Amino acid sequence: MCIFNGGRDLARTNTKLNPVKKTDLQVVKPVKTTKYSDINLNAWKDYPHVKTDTLWEFPSRLKEHGHTNEYHGNYIPQIAQQLYERFTKKNDVVLDLFFGSGTSGIEAVNMQRRCIGVELKEDLAEKVSEKFTPKQLVTDVNIICADSASNLAKEKVKARLDIMGEDFAQFLILHPPYDDIIKFSDKKEDLSNCSSTDEFYNLFEKVAQNGYDLLEKGRFAALIIGDSYKNSEVQPLGFECMARMQKLGFALKAIIVKDMQGNERAKGKTANLWRYRALAGGFYIFKHEYVMVFQKR
Ligand SMILES: C[S@@+](CC[C@H](N)C(=O)[O-])C[C@H]1O[C@@H](n2cnc3c(N)ncnc32)[C@H](O)[C@@H]1O
Repeated sequence: MCIFNGGRDLARTNTKLNPVKKTDLQVVKPVKTTKYSDINLNAWKDYPHVKTDTLWEFPSRLKEHGHTNEYHGNYIPQIAQQLYERFTKKNDVVLDLFFGSGTSGIEAVNMQRRCIGVELKEDLAEKVSEKFTPKQLVTDVNIICADSASNLAKEKVKARLDIMGEDFAQFLILHPPYDDIIKFSDKKEDLSNCSSTDEFYNLFEKVAQNGYDLLEKGRFAALIIGDSYKNSEVQPLGFECMARMQKLGFALKAIIVKDMQGNERAKGKTANLWRYRALAGGFYIFKHEYVMVFQKR
């Protein structure tokens, strides 16, 4: 006699024939992320490439995927890659107030983020826009030519955010000139053209204030900076700019020391000359810069 029992007997029979081993059962854990990153914390072992320590060494600069090394003073793309993966989600807007040759924008596109970049030099802003397709310049990357310390720049960024459907940016990058080490222009608003290091700090603070106001609460900011040497003394640009950002209300989350050898240019004879000068003058040659990470609480 066959009594319909909803297939239970059949299931029992099949289980007998093909017993389910414990190892066949995979427990699929739900995706668990933070509010500011797509890293799945339930699969955290799958991200060995994401740095969590404070010493960053990159043997060479990434030159593929739209990046070139033609602009003296640009940062290496691996910095953006690390920061974006840890502190942004897909489609987030990154705001870079010292856009330069657009490293932050190129990497934003590569990693499906969006970017607003502000750069003081018109010719540079124009040239950098050629690195993006007309479509990308509408949907993904907005380049503004302005003085990032000004109210006008802040208003322009707000207007672009509005067009992008956002009230605030979700990540802030500040990679200012390292005082006057590289002079980027003769403009009086240029942070590399200040009459003193104090003036540099004050202008930097104004830019950082704009960045603070334009950043979403709870989100992160990165300051990429090196120190300088003036009048036979180290100028701790990194630590002073860090202190200015803390004063504005940014909470300091990390001081990362990045090995600079991947982007250094001095080689051979020039390097030897610096070594001689260091020995004669009682100083050490900079081989590192900082990536400082902050959060807007
Ligand atoms: C260290 S570079 C940034 C390089 C950039 N991160 C890149 O990877 O190409 C600093 C840039 O800030 C720009 N700058 C200096 N003062 C500025 C200001 N007040 N407003 C906007 N940009 C400024 C300089 O022209 C220069 O391109």
